Amino acid sequence: MLCGLGAWLPPRIVPNSELADTLDTSDEWITSRTGVRTRHIADAGMATSDLAVQAGERALKSAGMSNVDAVVLATTTPDHPCPATAPTVSARLGLGTVAAFDVNAVCSGFLYGLMVGAGMIAAGDTSSVLLIGADTYSRILDPADRSTRVIFGDGAGAVVLRAGDPDEPGAIGPIDLGSDGDNNNLIAIAAGGSREPFHDGGDPYFRMRGKEVFRHAVVRMTQSAQTVLRRTEWPGGLPDLLVAHQANVRIVHAVADQLGLPREQCAIHLDRVGNTAAASLPLALADAVTTRRLTAGTRVLLASFGGGLTWGACAVRWPELSLT
Ligand code: COA
Repeated sequence: MLCGLGAWLPPRIVPNSELADTLDTSDEWITSRTGVRTRHIADAGMATSDLAVQAGERALKSAGMSNVDAVVLATTTPDHPCPATAPTVSARLGLGTVAAFDVNAVCSGFLYGLMVGAGMIAAGDTSSVLLIGADTYSRILDPADRSTRVIFGDGAGAVVLRAGDPDEPGAIGPIDLGSDGDNNNLIAIAAGGSREPFHDGGDPYFRMRGKEVFRHAVVRMTQSAQTVLRRTEWPGGLPDLLVAHQANVRIVHAVADQLGLPREQCAIHLDRVGNTAAASLPLALADAVTTRRLTAGTRVLLASFGGGLTWGACAVRWPELSLT
């Protein structure tokens, strides 16, 4: 059961025009090819845990809870390669010595985390989970790479999950997840792992083969969404609102077109925040709640796609909850 939601964005807003000051790009190109107009960028010294704590605090408050049994952090930009960042976040939130670990499924991390959190609760020994999606991509982008700098932004979003009845609003599922490791090179950081340690001097930056990623994203999110929709048996077979990974407005609309869903029924948040990776879905959910597109009873379809490759979709009938 989803019972709390929180969001946090670093205060500094960077418009397209600011990127065009130092990169060979333009507001016109970025807006027309991606839909992004502004993004939030973390100040120097700010790390992913700083964003995650803010979002986590807000989600706990929204749920009216001060304790949970576990913390799951979806991120590709941990504070350090080792240890995981979730224990730091848990300690800073005053949650004590509960289980805490990171999930890395790149931009699909939040949906993977949702499956993990819901699964922990279904297993019976855990009754509540704080799931946070937080990323600070500005730290891993090549400052000279216009193809990635224009897309990504920093941010964090979080939900609280608790045990509940499958028929209650807020129940999670069905969920569909998938991966394709044969295409692991389409989105990657080459150096810094066991294959190519940093001290060997490899490329430390995040690289993406945009055109191919675009194609895979549309196909995989559509297939996953269709799988979930078949299992939900919602009237008309379609959701009230599609909250898809906020990478590019053209991708979101292409998925809606393939599903036969009017484009007006897509949540669009990326125009203001760009692609915030694992934070993308909870941030878009929070924006949809704030703008009253998402209210109690709304049938929401979540869909995500990311490096790995990884993807997923999930159905949720939205519960009554307030944002702080
Ligand atoms: N500003 C101006 N021109 C740019 C540019 C920028 N920021 N980035 C690329 N270009 C140029 C290219 O160099 C290319 O020029 P050329 O025709 O002279 O070679 C031209 O624009 C078209 O590039 P292309 O890569 O074909 O553009 P595109 O329409 O595919 O858009 C992306 C590029 C990255 C925006 C798009 O492919 C995309 O959104 N991909 C998916 C991204 C994604 O989902 N990532 C996250 C997955 S989790």
